[in-house]
Amino acid sequence: MTKKNRSLKTIKTVGVLCSGGDSPGMNCAIRAVIRTALGQGLAPYGIQKGYSGLLEGNIFKMNASSVGNIMQKGGTILQTSRCPEFFKAEIRKEAAHILRRKGIDSLVVIGGNGSYKGAMDLWREHHIPIIGLPGTIDNDVSASEYSIGFDTAVQTAVEAVDKIRDTASSHERTFIVEVMGRHSPAIALSVGVCTGAENIVLNSGTPDFEQIGQDILKGIKRGKNSSIIIVAEGKTPGSLAYSVRDKLKEKFKLNSHVCILGHIQRGGNPTPSDRLIASQMGFQAILCLKNGQFPYAIAVQNGKVVPVTLEESIKDKNSPDSLLINLARTLSI
Ligand code: F6P
Repeated sequence: MTKKNRSLKTIKTVGVLCSGGDSPGMNCAIRAVIRTALGQGLAPYGIQKGYSGLLEGNIFKMNASSVGNIMQKGGTILQTSRCPEFFKAEIRKEAAHILRRKGIDSLVVIGGNGSYKGAMDLWREHHIPIIGLPGTIDNDVSASEYSIGFDTAVQTAVEAVDKIRDTASSHERTFIVEVMGRHSPAIALSVGVCTGAENIVLNSGTPDFEQIGQDILKGIKRGKNSSIIIVAEGKTPGSLAYSVRDKLKEKFKLNSHVCILGHIQRGGNPTPSDRLIASQMGFQAILCLKNGQFPYAIAVQNGKVVPVTLEESIKDKNSPDSLLINLARTLSI
């Protein structure tokens, strides 16, 4: 009997947890996992506070009512955590032991890249049938065009930048607005295009300060009464944004204001698009477990919600979308 068949025979229960930064739409995914599991005859369990909660045995039975009236809410009812200890093999051994002791024989992990890596190791070392759902506002999970929460985060940031544009125009000012995405350019690119930003500064490589300054001056010469520069969050919040401000002052005598949007982008009611995709993903996760397709992740490919191997999903995501970069430059003259 193969490992896969053996696991398939024994799956009677499923645990679900959120891991890493929260993202709007996680609740819709939890709801879909729990209710689909019930429909498929699996007993669903919630695991509070991600891998950390799992290690504390913070696991409880859930039913259809546990996930009633949650899909419109931001955050996650299961809460989440970052758990660096989970990178240690002995800690994962302990986690597998706790799952077995609590009678949980499969797992759905909603999170980003790091969470997927922990899930993959749990499968490799302890053969726990596992499915990943991409839940991060950063949209940087490999093998998927989309991650739950990205649309809502972009909408929140776009609304904020539109407001900043109003005051920037009234006062003829330049604003540098930092959006989230420590290792990802995705939010910055989308927000930059959607707000007609004069410049987008990504968090890979050294910014071309000369180009940024020349672009702003060119706009002012053409009669623009405001400029917006969208900056992707660097290593630490504010670091890149303030360095752009300082360089503009130093090299071009340009005054600018910095606004860091920060965690506002992680909260709020999920958009219909996030609700829809998260619901489809949660549904597919359980079908995969039922069909013996694990370790898998649920992804969006060519606009469709599909299962892909977890192996593919833990690779590093490709570099920034060059079409969007080109579009932003072409339209921002
Ligand atoms: O969840 C992803 C993310 O929001 C990144 O965009 C950001 O850099 C980071 O999390 C912030 O993390 P923390 O929750 O630790 O402040």
